[in-house]
Amino acid sequence: MIKDEHFKDPKACLEDFNFGADTARVFDDMLDRSVPFYSEIQRMIGEMAGDFVQAGSRIYDLGCSTGNTLIALDQCLKEERCELVGVDASEEMLAVARQKILKRPLQLPCSLEVQNLEQGLVIDNASVVILNLTLQFIRPLYRDDLISRIAEGTRPGGCLLLVEKVLGEPSLLNRLFIKHFYAFKKRNGYTDMEIAQKREALENVLIPYQDSENRSLLLKNGYSACDVFFRWYNFSGYIAIKD
Ligand SMILES: C[S@@+](CC[C@H](N)C(=O)[O-])C[C@H]1O[C@@H](n2cnc3c(N)ncnc32)[C@H](O)[C@@H]1O
Repeated sequence: MIKDEHFKDPKACLEDFNFGADTARVFDDMLDRSVPFYSEIQRMIGEMAGDFVQAGSRIYDLGCSTGNTLIALDQCLKEERCELVGVDASEEMLAVARQKILKRPLQLPCSLEVQNLEQGLVIDNASVVILNLTLQFIRPLYRDDLISRIAEGTRPGGCLLLVEKVLGEPSLLNRLFIKHFYAFKKRNGYTDMEIAQKREALENVLIPYQDSENRSLLLKNGYSACDVFFRWYNFSGYIAIKD
């Protein structure tokens, strides 16, 4: 794994964070050191996908990046009759995913599609859809439409697994959660400079909702029930079920 040193040196002019080649190259290390319980979240997603998968359906991973979730899903669902679809707007991320899958072929049929989730996504015949740390990068204006398109293309009895960074409520708790999150990143080897520069680069790009906003987004756009399956300070994982 290539070490993430993207924000190591001081930058005179910080660009907005993006998912191009420089990020894709180091992304797996960035995820491991920046997302608490990243591999446990992947395991839980695979496990719950196993609870909701339906024969002859598709499992979508939206914002699939370098393919880690697709690989975890393949392990959990290899005995099922279903196909995997990974979608991402970044060609560079999908190129890394493709390389990994070439090295260790998946057992289930899997396609990788380049698509911007803000532009008329069509979901077809899904039983499970995953948005793992992706919805936070979709501009709020497009979130209702995206969730209702996903629900529309999901079979009755199917589910959406959504993992997001969230805003603590009230703001005192938000500040404390973020303080503990930055301490986690420091324990994983990031310097104060790296943490501060990444925070600034993400400012207008990653827009977290409060827990209550995520729940209402799901419940008003086609899901009948939702609950939290994961929580660590300012990270939350939701499962939403379609009737
Ligand atoms: C934090 S990463 C997701 C991590 C990944 N789901 C995992 O489990 O490792 C966010 C991903 O969403 C993708 N993304 C961001 N905005 C997007 C958009 N508008 N349409 C499609 N993909 C987008 C990025 O290219 C990136 O690969």
